Amino acid sequence: MSKLTIEQVDLGGKRVFIRADLNVPLDHGAVSDDTRLRAVLPTLRYALDAGAAIVLASHLGRPKGTVAPEYSLRPVAERLQALLGRPVELAEDCVGPATLEHARRLRPGEILLLENLRFHAGEEANDDGFASALAALADCYVDDAFAAAHRAHASIAAITRHLQPAAAGLLMQQELAALGRILEKPGRPLAAILGGAKVSEKLALVEHLLSRVDTLLIGGGMAFTFLRALGHDVGRSLLEPDRIETARRALEAARRGGVSVLLPVDAVVAPALDSPSGRVVGVQEIPRTEMALDIGPRTVERFREPLRTARTIVWNGPMGVFERPPFAAGTVALAKAVAASEAFSVIGGGDTIAAVAQAGVTDRIGYISTAGGAFLEFLEGRELPGVAALTEAR
Ligand code: 3PG
Repeated sequence: MSKLTIEQVDLGGKRVFIRADLNVPLDHGAVSDDTRLRAVLPTLRYALDAGAAIVLASHLGRPKGTVAPEYSLRPVAERLQALLGRPVELAEDCVGPATLEHARRLRPGEILLLENLRFHAGEEANDDGFASALAALADCYVDDAFAAAHRAHASIAAITRHLQPAAAGLLMQQELAALGRILEKPGRPLAAILGGAKVSEKLALVEHLLSRVDTLLIGGGMAFTFLRALGHDVGRSLLEPDRIETARRALEAARRGGVSVLLPVDAVVAPALDSPSGRVVGVQEIPRTEMALDIGPRTVERFREPLRTARTIVWNGPMGVFERPPFAAGTVALAKAVAASEAFSVIGGGDTIAAVAQAGVTDRIGYISTAGGAFLEFLEGRELPGVAALTEAR
């Protein structure tokens, strides 16, 4: 890792600004999934053990620069406090005289959680004045928010102009190492599985992965734009007509590059998303009035084969509408196939994580990223602002 890490910074007696991604789902004002909170605990404990006081910051949801009580980090403070077993105080605001005063009074071992950064428009605008107000709260900076590293926001990018050194937290390092293994020297064969609804969101990724993977499996709604590019009628299945040509070019590039791209050969079709059941048909036989909502059993068999021999697997996006029981079998079977493989497997994205949990194989996945958008952008080979902003290690 070419970036400075938290272990290389002397934290004793310092106030450390830790940018985390505590953007968790809430249900009736309580945290309904605390995975991201648990993921940041090692960094928090490390800083506290090293004798630091922590100014902890995150966004929650998209309140768009206004104070919206439903996006308060209060439920997060409460859950963090329970997980850490020590007080986590919530500041009323993330900047301003009262917060500055509070931060200055912090003693080693104490944690102050700032209120939602996105209550200020300056956060998403990467505003320098706002960043400098955040920087005034601490002596050094640690970024542990890999899941938000694709955002050039004030607490991620501009703040590092005012607060140095800027080091990678333990979760940030772990994410970069696991995802880096996919792009740099992966164990081969390397298989990628892509699914989900929107092909437009994944085409850049498909193009980037084609120069790296040995096999690419494409399922989910996005597969139908590729099948259309091959001349199939896909009925009322998801289709992005303006991406058919790009999909065709990607398939052509794969053929030239010797990458095997596997598409569904059968599908579970139904008249509507809320249909109580579906039936299996070949992809040449999708009725004009129906839509494909899952991959079929022959596709599962076909996809399983390369996963058996893969040494590395990366997966993002479900194979169908797995939240609905009649259309879950394909995604669940694939999750089990990934879990059964000897390969080092990496998954990311909320839907994929939920699908793996639904299949009951979460603990058999090599690495589960906390990131969604940042996971995709990293694998697209893009430089993430949150990584670029970190101090180079000497
Ligand atoms: C995420 O949940 O992917 C990150 O927290 C980023 O959130 P955003 O898409 O609202 O920027």
